[in-house]
Parts: sequence; C-alpha cells; structure tokens
Amino acid sequence: MNVKFSKPNIYEEDLKLVKKTIKSGWLTHGKNTSLFEQKFKAYTNSKYSITVSSCTAALHLSCLALDLKKGDEVIVPAMSHTATSHSVEYTGAKTVFVDIDFKTGNIDTDKILKKITKNTKAIIIVHMAGLSCEIDLILKICKKYKIKLIEDCAHSVGTKFQSTHVGNFGISGCFSFYPTKQITTGEGGMLITNNKSFYNKIKKLKAFGIDKDINQRKKQGTYDVKSLGFNYRLTDFQSALGLKQILNYKNNLKQRHLIAKKYIKSLKNVDEVKCMPYSNNCSFFVFQIFCKNRDKLLKKFKEKKIGVSIHYATPLPSMTYYKNRYNLSMVNFKKAKVYANTNISLPVYPSLQLKEQDKVIRVIKEFYGYY
Ligand SMILES: Cc1ncc(COP(=O)(O)O)c(C=O)c1O
Repeated sequence: MNVKFSKPNIYEEDLKLVKKTIKSGWLTHGKNTSLFEQKFKAYTNSKYSITVSSCTAALHLSCLALDLKKGDEVIVPAMSHTATSHSVEYTGAKTVFVDIDFKTGNIDTDKILKKITKNTKAIIIVHMAGLSCEIDLILKICKKYKIKLIEDCAHSVGTKFQSTHVGNFGISGCFSFYPTKQITTGEGGMLITNNKSFYNKIKKLKAFGIDKDINQRKKQGTYDVKSLGFNYRLTDFQSALGLKQILNYKNNLKQRHLIAKKYIKSLKNVDEVKCMPYSNNCSFFVFQIFCKNRDKLLKKFKEKKIGVSIHYATPLPSMTYYKNRYNLSMVNFKKAKVYANTNISLPVYPSLQLKEQDKVIRVIKEFYGYY
C-alpha cells in the first residue's frame, strides 16, 4: 500500500463546474472568479479579497503596494519558502532575517526588536504549517515602530488567532493554492485586506495597471494606464475549482484535526519524536514531527512507499543567494538550522485512510524499536 504525501480534495461535482466553465469559452476574469473571491472573503471574514496567480504574486504585489524600495528593510523569518523573502528582493528592498521559535516554527517574536532599524518598513510573518504566530505581540511592535505587517498565509486557510482568521491582522494576507495546500487551483492564490485604498492599488497592479476592469468600461477596449502593473490573474476555471473547495472546506479542516490528533496520541510515547503542538486554531497544512536520525527515517519512509516532505530543509539565510548577498552566518539562526535538520511533514489530507495513517505510525514506531 503506497501512501501519498498529499492529495487534492477535489470531487466529481467540482470537475463538472470546471468543465462547464471551460466549455463556456469565458476563461478568465469571469463569474467564478468573483464568486470565489466573495466566498473566500466570507470564509475569512475580511472586507476585500482578490484572486491572483500565486501566493508569490500576492506577496510581491503587497510589497509593491507598500512602495518598498532600495534602502528599505523588511523583516522575514529564517524558516520559510523562498517566495517570502524573494517578494522583498523583487522590490530592491533588503531582507533582514530573524531566527524562529523552535516550538512553533514561527518567527521568534522576542528577536524582532533587535533587528529593527530606522529603515525597517515592514515585517512578513509566516504561520508555519497552519499554526498562527503571536500576532498580538507582533502587532504591538508594528504599532510602536510604525511598521506594516504582511501575513504570508500560504499554509493557513482555516487558521485563526483568537477567533479571527489570519490574514486580517496585517495590511494583507497572502494565500497559496499550490497542489499540496489545503485548497488547490493547480497554481493560484488569494490576497485579502481590510483596507480599501490598498485593495484598489492591488487590483490595478494585478492587471497591467489598467484603470477600469472589464465591467467598468463604457466602450469596449477603452481604458487608461497611469502606472505599471503585471498580469497576475487567476483563470476562471481555476477559480471554479477553488470555489468548490472553499464551500466544502469545513469538512476538510475537520478531517485534518482528527488525523492530527491521532498522530499526537499514537506518537506520544515515542521519545525520539516530538510532534508539532495541537491547537483548535491550527489548520494543519501538514503534520510536522521533529525526530532523531531524521534522514534515516526519511529513507525508511521511501523504502515503505510513504510520501512525506520537509518544510523546510534549508533555512533561507543559508541559501546561496541570500548567504552571499548579505554575508550571513548560521550562527545567528541556530533554531532554524535545528528545525531544518529534524523536521518531517507527514500527510494529513482529508482523504488519508485510517489504514494509511496506521502504516505511517507503524513505520515510525518500528524504526525507533517500539514494536
Ligand atoms: C510559506 C510560503 N510562502 C509562499 C509560498 C509561495 O506560494 P505559491 O507557490 O502559491 O507562489 C509558499 C509555497 O509553498 C510557502 O510555503
């Protein structure tokens, strides 16, 4: 029995809408796009939401809309996908890395202060594996030093902080619909914000800088461009897929919690393995464990045909681009290094069968001699 690392939560019913959309011939900025945006806005309880071609695009647009430029500094956690820091680099601003809190994998709030200078314009936080950062404390810092907050919510559809969906605390929340994510459109993303003028800026930046969208044009094809923009749109058939999944997301999230609880219960006596913390507010993009002899266990998973992953294997400051650009040493990112060397992401998608999860658990226990 092979166990996959991830499986999209897509049903026949969802594919019908995708097919219908493709057959209609209206393939981009159509009905499904606005419906998906509306439903996502309702799910996250935010004022504005806008589909984009990826979370990277959402992060890039957020940095641009904040007018980040050369000479500005942006604080980013040392442990994330490279898209988080790349979005800063695209603007010419400087990425300033902060080590993580090993318990959560999130930015170490206590270490943020030491990295703030007169040039610090923004902080990008990542809610690792769907577990929220200490947003209240981070917001206090942002307020005190007049720094903008961007939330990288690539792991976090369904994550809450004190009963508010994440992405609502910063100027923007940037979500990913990459295939391994809780919701997928193949490639794709969503940006949420509660700020009207920021939303209007993003809308223009996302589509070439054009001042009127298709429904606002008096005469076909007439519009003006007052500033540069990109083509970061999501297609309407991708939106159809996303729309169906956000409508069914409650059940998806419920299953993730059941699977996470079972991992925690089953592995609690395995001294060599530490599980990520459980929280009702977590959305469990993956279920992370931290283990002794990690690489040997990875080999065992491969041998037993169990798909797992690592988030992430290389801390951002030790990636060649960043290491050379900023002359960085890992001495300042010790926790990120340990995290990178010990974590494994286990499957936690809703269609994971009981017997498949049992196999994952059995392989771990056997590996450490608990059977
Ligand atoms: C934390 C984080 N941020 C950003 C991204 C980029 O997302 P996308 O692939 O949708 O551009 C990812 C991708 O997995 C991610 O994990």
